[in-house]
Amino acid sequence: MANRLPVDEVINPDGTTTWGRSPGGLVTALEPVLRAQHGAWVGWPGGIDQEIEPFESDGLTLVPVALSAEDVEDFYEGFSNATLWPLYHDVIAKPQFHREWWDAYVEVNRRFTERAVEVAAPGATVWVQDYQLQLVPQMLRELRPDLRIGFYLHIPFPPAELFAQLPWRRQILEGLLGADLIGFQLPGAAHNFIRLVRSRVGHRTHKDTVQMPDGRVVRAAAYPISIDAEEFETLARSEGVEARAKEIREQLGNPETLFLGVDRLDYTKGIYARLRAYSELIAEGHLDVHESIFVQVATPSRERVEQYRLLRDETDRLVGRINGDLGHFGRPAIDYQHASFPREEMAALYRAADVMVVTPLRDGMNLVAKEYVACKFDDEGALVLSEFAGAAHELRQAWMVNPYDINGMKATLLEAHRASPEERRRRMRAMRAQVKENDVARWAANFLGDLSGPSGPRPDAP
Ligand code: ADP
Ligand code: F6P
Repeated sequence: MANRLPVDEVINPDGTTTWGRSPGGLVTALEPVLRAQHGAWVGWPGGIDQEIEPFESDGLTLVPVALSAEDVEDFYEGFSNATLWPLYHDVIAKPQFHREWWDAYVEVNRRFTERAVEVAAPGATVWVQDYQLQLVPQMLRELRPDLRIGFYLHIPFPPAELFAQLPWRRQILEGLLGADLIGFQLPGAAHNFIRLVRSRVGHRTHKDTVQMPDGRVVRAAAYPISIDAEEFETLARSEGVEARAKEIREQLGNPETLFLGVDRLDYTKGIYARLRAYSELIAEGHLDVHESIFVQVATPSRERVEQYRLLRDETDRLVGRINGDLGHFGRPAIDYQHASFPREEMAALYRAADVMVVTPLRDGMNLVAKEYVACKFDDEGALVLSEFAGAAHELRQAWMVNPYDINGMKATLLEAHRASPEERRRRMRAMRAQVKENDVARWAANFLGDLSGPSGPRPDAP
């Protein structure tokens, strides 16, 4: 179960509704996993007051949880995305603490729990996903001790010193401890969690385990998430995608070098500093708009949350100023698209790009970096990657940057741009081997294998 279903209900201009794919890395990673497991997916269909019965979509059983306008405001936009999201991402934006948002978080977590209780068979495994549902493991365990419960956090888990700001820190830790296994992207996050449980809840811990007063042992460990690399590569190799990649380059005036950024429009993604670094390279004459272009694609995201509105205005202004100052007729420095694209178009963009620039200020994993690598089946292309993305721990042959250091970023962009074809191929080959071996099926098998544990699923029904 996850906050979102893999599909959103979209209302067309003529009033009819259709289902579209939901945004973000969680859906990208989990969809193939759940399809293979034939499980049911409990989640929010993305709109308001949608009282919908469970339905089948593309071989998946989807179990919708309805949210009211107030729930969306207080639980989703409020506590999830204006309290937890900034707190868990190094307080890049200031987290807001409101007691009524917390009340909504508790109430909506309870609703998700009740929905899961209705559909889970006796002794079933329930895998709870992400920061929006951290209270669900404990709530589920109280109602259904027969279940095997896993929890996975797709975003970073903050250092104890930051987490300690949260007025409801103990409740969140206890909520998570309802799970048998708690998965994080990186070992550091799992350590942060164990340390906090020891100091704030007072349970005994040993290495990566917590000894619960009821005799249970809870484990917290790292399971770095990934993508369906084979599916991306197959898509990238298709004739349609190859033709479209060529067409994109032509439409951009056949530049010698195409730099690419692809992100949800989020302040954690470091879009502003990245575009500034690139524009300074043009302004200083290291790059020329007749030879290079930066394509930045930004998916609209959380548009009613204030920080996201500010970010959109700030990005619009920056791109306008850079192109106004540095562009020529038909030769902008930056081609900026505020849009969401189908997967084929994403693969074509990855195929077309010479240098992929992924520079988040903090990111749980960042699947875009892995998607780029998966699509480069000819070993061409360079990846510039932030040290603060979870992916940096695996894609070690990328050109690494500190996204706060604009001069450092400029130097690294130039280095990646000027690297010899042999150097690029050497690095890309190593990264491709990593992504192909550690794909999302392996991630899920590792987590679910550990969750089913040596004792196996519990047989006792409710
Ligand atoms: P996050 O989970 O924070 O959104 P990730 O990089 O892990 O970040 O995952 C983003 C996912 O969304 C990727 O699968 C990527 O392909 C997809 N995506 C990003 N931007 C777009 C876009 N403009 N159009 C369509 N899909 C996008
Ligand atoms: O991967 C992190 C995440 O917050 C997911 O939980 C979420 O589904 C995705 O990014 C997109 O965000 P949202 O669901 O708020 O549009």
